[in-house]
Order: sequence, then C-alpha cells, then structure tokens
Amino acid sequence: MNMKQKLKMGVIGLSAVFLVACGAGSGDKLTIGTDAAYAPFESLDGDKIVGFDADLLDAVMKEAGLEYEMKNTGWEPLFIALQNDEVDAGISAITINDDRKKTYDFSSPYFESINMILAKEGTSIKSAKDLEGKKVSVQNGTTGQEALEKMFGANENIKKFDNNTLAIQALLNGEVEAVVADNAVVQEYAKNNPDKKLVTISDKENFESEFYGIIFPKDGKHQEEINKAMKKVIEDGKYADIYKKWFGEEPNVDALKQ
Ligand code: ARG
Repeated sequence: MNMKQKLKMGVIGLSAVFLVACGAGSGDKLTIGTDAAYAPFESLDGDKIVGFDADLLDAVMKEAGLEYEMKNTGWEPLFIALQNDEVDAGISAITINDDRKKTYDFSSPYFESINMILAKEGTSIKSAKDLEGKKVSVQNGTTGQEALEKMFGANENIKKFDNNTLAIQALLNGEVEAVVADNAVVQEYAKNNPDKKLVTISDKENFESEFYGIIFPKDGKHQEEINKAMKKVIEDGKYADIYKKWFGEEPNVDALKQ
C-alpha cells in the first residue's frame, strides 16, 4: 500500500467509527417491558401487544421522537429487568405508590384506577369486608394483594398467581370465591365473557383510588423527555382519542393533574 492508499484506508476507517458512534446515539431503540395479560391495558393479539397502554406508549414515544419496542417480560420479571437495566422502562397498568417509588421512578400519572372484586353470579359478597375468611385470588405483587393484606393481614386464603389470567382461572375452577384486580380489567373480563356468569363488586370505602404511571429504573435515561411527551399527549387530545377507543367515553383528564 502506498501513502495515498494508506491515507484513504485511514479516512474510511475513521468514517466507519464515526458512523457507528452516531448510530448508537440516534438509532438507540428503547426496550419497554410489560405483562401482556391485563386487557384492556395490555394483551396479546397473535404476537402483537395491544391495548390502551400500547397505544398510549406509541403516542408518547412518537411525541418524544424516540424509537422503542415493547417486550412481554411478565409482571414480576419486569421489576427485576428494570433493576438490572434489561429494560429502559415499563408500562403495565402499574400503580404509582410510595413503596415502589423507593426503588423506581415514575412518569406523571396517566390513568386513575381502583381495585374491584370479580365473583360468580349469586355470590354473597357485597363488599371487600365480605372477603374475610374466603379464598381470594390476586396477581402476585399487585396492589390487589396489598389491599387484601392491609385488611386481613397476610394469610393463606390469599391465593397469589403469576398473572391475572391465572387468578381468574382459579375463580372459574372454583378454587377461590373471588378475584381482586383493577376495576377496568375485571369489568372488561366480565363483559367479554358473559357465558362465565360473573359479577363485579365495587367498594370505594375499602379500596383506594390509584394512579398508573410509566415506570423507570431510578435515574434512567429519557425520563424527562418521556414525561414531557406524556403531558403533551394528554393536553393535545391524543390521550382522549385513545381513551375513547378503549373505554368508549371521555376521560376525566383533570383527575390526572395533581
Ligand atoms: N395496578 C396494579 C398494580 O400496579 C396491577 C397491575 C397489574 N398489571 C399487569 N399488567 N398485570 O399493582
């Protein structure tokens, strides 16, 4: 190789390094974890993750100009993946609470929720207090479990499952008398499965209002951009469109401003 050729090779080499470095910056794809067994927020349609959360995330990431892909990690593995930096964030109908705030960061709230009871038609259960001494299923590590433990103490009547589908299955099998999970999820299931003859029981005294947020590892990347984009999407009406698509009514966006 003569001097000129060497120089040329050097320039090509340098440009390659430059391109790779730039690519890592701008083309950086974020991985967002979820537990896609919680319709209407996230569920699988074939191998596609669909739902209110999926649509909202898409609008937020477009607004923020960030590329991403959703990953169906499952519920408890999602929290571990956040701690190990295996995912950049999570969206999974996750309630913002003080306990989780010790370990994770959250976006501003995007949905108001409350726990609700799902039981079989003809049940004697009228309120959360009536669950005392009865076998009740929950998804492990959810606020549904927490609410029951707060009322009755941790005990063996609280049957914990890896996902909400299994918790509902336990009710259908007659293993438990009720399921406690988020209101929209419980109502969606009862509505979509009329043959199962289920009823939903609300209890605004014993269950507390909760708010969902996007979850991040503490001091994770892109939190500020995502949060700003979330606020924008809520303000400019995209949020309302997505809400109407999934819930058939107008959202109360004022409830999200706290
Ligand atoms: N909102 C409840 C919580 O944060 C339940 C969320 C469950 N989400 C799910 N995708 N399975 O504990």
